[in-house]
Amino acid sequence: MHRILVVNSSTRQGRFSDGVASWAVQRLKERGDFLVDLLDLRDHPLPLFDGAPPAYHPREYADENVARLARRIDAADGYVVLVAEYNHGYTAALKNALDHTFAEWQRKPVTFIGWGNVGGARAIEQLREVAVEFEMAPLRHAVHILPDVMRAARDRGGQADETLLAPLEPRLELLANHLAWWTDALASARTREDH
Ligand SMILES: Cc1cc2nc3c(=O)[nH]c(=O)nc-3n(C[C@H](O)[C@H](O)[C@H](O)COP(=O)(O)O)c2cc1C
Repeated sequence: MHRILVVNSSTRQGRFSDGVASWAVQRLKERGDFLVDLLDLRDHPLPLFDGAPPAYHPREYADENVARLARRIDAADGYVVLVAEYNHGYTAALKNALDHTFAEWQRKPVTFIGWGNVGGARAIEQLREVAVEFEMAPLRHAVHILPDVMRAARDRGGQADETLLAPLEPRLELLANHLAWWTDALASARTREDH
């Protein structure tokens, strides 16, 4: 079974992302065709990146915190990034984590679950461009959580629970089906030619 890493890219207090993370992890696990792990960037506090480009020294990290994060990214065959949109972009914590690493993400698929005024679409579109630089395969399909759901969640104390996200399940299923195809195709290709 292939390993999917769900990446919670919001680290702020009172984040909306927690409800999305538990929903996505649960639903992806229920399919039975993925080993699903949750990466919370809060658990990996990193210094602001100020070193040599990690692409020049693949998988060599002086800082144990970076090495620990890199090992978790490396162990995955594909990614679902949970995308909070800040000022029409994605979070600084995510960009910092990306800049600290490189080879671990290469030749693997990535897809997105975003939220906000336009379902995180602007931040997700930026991430698709960044993913190409990492030689990842960014998928066309994503889940977009729109303001009606966020407002309803706010009225219930801030978290998006299972009931609120239920209408998005067909969309998550479609995303997961495409992720399964790409994960399988690229995992086979990586084992065939390891360079
Ligand atoms: C610094 C900041 C900037 C934001 N900018 C946007 C934005 O550009 N577009 C948007 O749709 N929502 C924006 N929001 C609202 C977020 O969508 C909302 O706070 C959401 O809960 C963020 O996800 P999080 O709680 O998991 O961090 C912004 C929120 C913050 C904290």
